[in-house]
Order: sequence, then structure tokens, then C-alpha cells
Amino acid sequence: MINKLKSYKELSLTVANIIKRQLKKHPLSKLGLPTGDTPLGMYSELVKKELDWKSVITFNLDVYLMNVDHPQSYQMYMRGNLFDRTNIYPDHTHFPFRPTSAFEDKITESMGIDLCILGIGSNGHIAFNEPGSSFKSRTRVVDLSLQTLQDNSRFFGSAEDVPKQAITMGLGTIMESKKIILMVNGKHKLTILNVAMNGEVTETVPASILQKHNNVEVYYCD
Ligand code: PGA
Repeated sequence: MINKLKSYKELSLTVANIIKRQLKKHPLSKLGLPTGDTPLGMYSELVKKELDWKSVITFNLDVYLMNVDHPQSYQMYMRGNLFDRTNIYPDHTHFPFRPTSAFEDKITESMGIDLCILGIGSNGHIAFNEPGSSFKSRTRVVDLSLQTLQDNSRFFGSAEDVPKQAITMGLGTIMESKKIILMVNGKHKLTILNVAMNGEVTETVPASILQKHNNVEVYYCD
């Protein structure tokens, strides 16, 4: 199901409302959560809803291999944009870590992710699963592609300053989520979105794996 929304505000509100409904219906939900520019508005709408997060467990999709106290770390991003603004227990917030099999075990022990929110990179990556990632991949350490280093240099000042490696949930891990929402913002993402949703299902375009999931909703605005 692919839905076009009128504005970034509407995109943000729509996905925030999906999460709200999920938490109201299932207070013990396990969420898969993204970082980057796209979900910023969604997090901002979500905190305004003042939901009860005390039974919610979260798994972030990916982290840079860097100091977690760095202002650009995804741990700091999540604290600033969501966690410190809700009543979620810090112990319930998980980020990929090494050994990566232990992170996978945490997801399994909590009975899997109920709702996973994703963005898409300009090269078709989801989380930091870069083109060529195996559709069976699990959480692991990855080298970031040149495209991603360039795209994310806006957060760091220059491509050289972007960490070269990350830990990401695998495509196989993400696909086990019961429901997936893909958020896409901006004209520059429309070509890759079209290729991913309507083109060949191929490891060259990691997001194309979503065509094989039976409960995916895509929300985009240009
Ligand atoms: P963005 O990143 O939201 O900052 O565009 C998306 C992604 O790379 O997955």
C-alpha cells in the first residue's frame, strides 16, 4: 500500500498517529525505530501526544561505530528527539551492539518487533544495509557506501568526518517485523522509491525486499 501525502507535516502526523494507535492498542509493543532527517517531524508530533511508554521496548535500526556521547551519535539523536521526552525506561531502549548475535537474541527474547519504521537512503538502503547486502543478512558491522558518506556529510561537516562503519540490523532481521512502515520525504527520493517498489526485487536495491513483506505501508511526500 503506497500513500502520497500532501506535505511533510502530514507525513509526520500520519506516522505518529500509526504509532499512537499501536501503543494504545498494545501497550507492550516492540518498535523498530529509524534516525536521519525524515523521522524528525514524526518524533516531534509523537512526543506531543504524551503517550504512556513505560511498557514499550524499542530497537533502533542502526548506529555508527563511534563514541555514543558524540552529538551526532544515533543514541544522542534518540535521546534528544524521543526518549528523554517520554516516560520510556532507558533499559527498554536498545541499539545494535557487539556481539551482534546478542542484539539479535534480545529481539528474539522480546518476541520480535511489532512495528518497524524505516526510511530509505538515496541508494536504496534501509537501515545501513547498503546495495549488495544479502536479503538474509542479520545484525552486523558494515562499511558505509561512498554515497551514504556523502549523503550524511551534512550532519558532520564533511564526508571525511562521517564514521566509515556502522552496526545495522540485517534485512532478514527487519523483514521479521510484523508490520513495516516506510517513510519517504522529498523529490530526490522518488526515483529510488519507484525502483524499490515497482522494479525488480534485487539485492542491488535493498529496499526492494519490502515487496516480499505482507504488511508494509509506504507513506511519501515530495
Ligand atoms: P534521511 O535518511 O532520512 O536522513 O534522508 C534516510 C536513510 O538514509 O535511511
